[in-house]
Amino acid sequence: MAVDLNNASPLAWDSATLDADTKAMLDNLQPNILRAHVREHLSVLFVRFNDVAEGKAFLRRLATTRMKSARKHLEEVRDFAAGRRRGTPYVGVGISKAGYRDLGHSVEDVRKFGDKVFRDGMKRRVAEVADPPVDQWEPTYQREIHAVILIGDAEQETVTELRDEIAGDLPESARLLGEETGQGMRNPAGDGIEHFGYVDGRSQPLFLRDEVDKEPKEHWDPAFPLSNVLVPDPFSPDPDRHHGSYLVFRKLEQNVRAFKEIEQELADGLGLTGADRDRAGAMLVGRFKDGTPLTSKRKAGGGPVGNDFTFDADPGSKCPFSGHIRKTNPRSFGREVLMARRGQTYGERADQPWDDSPPEHRPSGEVGLLFMAFNSSLVRQFEFTQQSWVNNADFENPATGHDPVIGQGERDIKVTFPKVWGKPEMSLPQTQVGQTVTMKGGEYFFAPSLAYLRNL
Ligand code: HEM
Repeated sequence: MAVDLNNASPLAWDSATLDADTKAMLDNLQPNILRAHVREHLSVLFVRFNDVAEGKAFLRRLATTRMKSARKHLEEVRDFAAGRRRGTPYVGVGISKAGYRDLGHSVEDVRKFGDKVFRDGMKRRVAEVADPPVDQWEPTYQREIHAVILIGDAEQETVTELRDEIAGDLPESARLLGEETGQGMRNPAGDGIEHFGYVDGRSQPLFLRDEVDKEPKEHWDPAFPLSNVLVPDPFSPDPDRHHGSYLVFRKLEQNVRAFKEIEQELADGLGLTGADRDRAGAMLVGRFKDGTPLTSKRKAGGGPVGNDFTFDADPGSKCPFSGHIRKTNPRSFGREVLMARRGQTYGERADQPWDDSPPEHRPSGEVGLLFMAFNSSLVRQFEFTQQSWVNNADFENPATGHDPVIGQGERDIKVTFPKVWGKPEMSLPQTQVGQTVTMKGGEYFFAPSLAYLRNL
């Protein structure tokens, strides 16, 4: 029997009564899909194989000697929480359409991947998502990438060692096309943040009973069926029990200086003073820097970062319709669009994102987000979000504007912002804020089942 991916109840993965198919699924699934893996330090390798037999042998060795299953990961998390030993590092693999072809799969075979966008590859989707032309991407991403290898751990040393071992094991015929280094950032409260200084990674679709149980759910149900992220792995020995997930990877550079200038200009333009000035940036993101949702509170602060809210009672007078988190998750509909985000920040900077340095002391490039997300359909999830919501100035309500954080394409309309939190009075129409996030390249991958990799 196949695993029921549409089952609405979260997975009780360590229940004694778990059925054999679901157990097999967890034993053959890569970690970091159903639950985020620690990847405070992250190494990302982009590889091209060039030889079928050697490429296969490399991946088989990687899977059998270095990769653990989703179930092993979940057991490690449970043991760590119980005060027992620390977990082992994360090694994940994604293969591109070109990679599957290079590993010997025929064109017909590759059509077994239901996702057309995966079969096209990111370079052919520039027009749909308004990405910069491929010749403006960083050189690594302009090349034909066959696979991505993700290596993550809490310790830098562990990642460096493992990265060297894995890169050293690449066959002569393969090429390491390029690599990225991710490095988590935390604010003084210990919450993970991105380079603009805002708490990130708080809202996620949750698939596991133990994670769902920890969340309040009066307004927002954080539980999602596995079908949001898993699909049968078409090339595995048993696709009913062996699953994979489509992985979108995008290097997104952040111009922090420009974003900080925009925050100040917006606050000035709206006449915001004192602590109320923080509302300017919060209107762009939808949360204050400390993660407080703008639709719930007029000010930052007040305990742990909440996620139990909707926008139902907010006609745009608290959180604008364009706010990043409202664009990417309107909450009252579109649950099937939500991806499991697993990105990591990259780049070094001299300032601290939360200090009070003036904008001119902030980085204007070379830092950003290695955006990564697992999908069951790239076309219905990542691309739909970017194209129909984020880049769409009329989404939900006409002329409300692009997503100010990640919107791409011409921002040619005027928009308004609420002058006072929760009151109908709006600002005069003004030009949309400038684009401060630039896509530097990326690719679509499929994270196959371990069963596929071990049998190569
Ligand atoms: C949430 C920043 C790129 C989709 C967030 C949050 C921040 C943030 C600060 C709030 C934390 C949270 O609710 O978990 C950024 C930055 C980006 C970026 C700085 C680029 C440099 C993207 C991209 C997408 C995306 C490319 C998808 C196309 C989402 C989603 C949420 C989110 C779905 C959760 C919304 C919710 O469920 O409430 N992002 N993000 N983000 N972002 Fe982004």
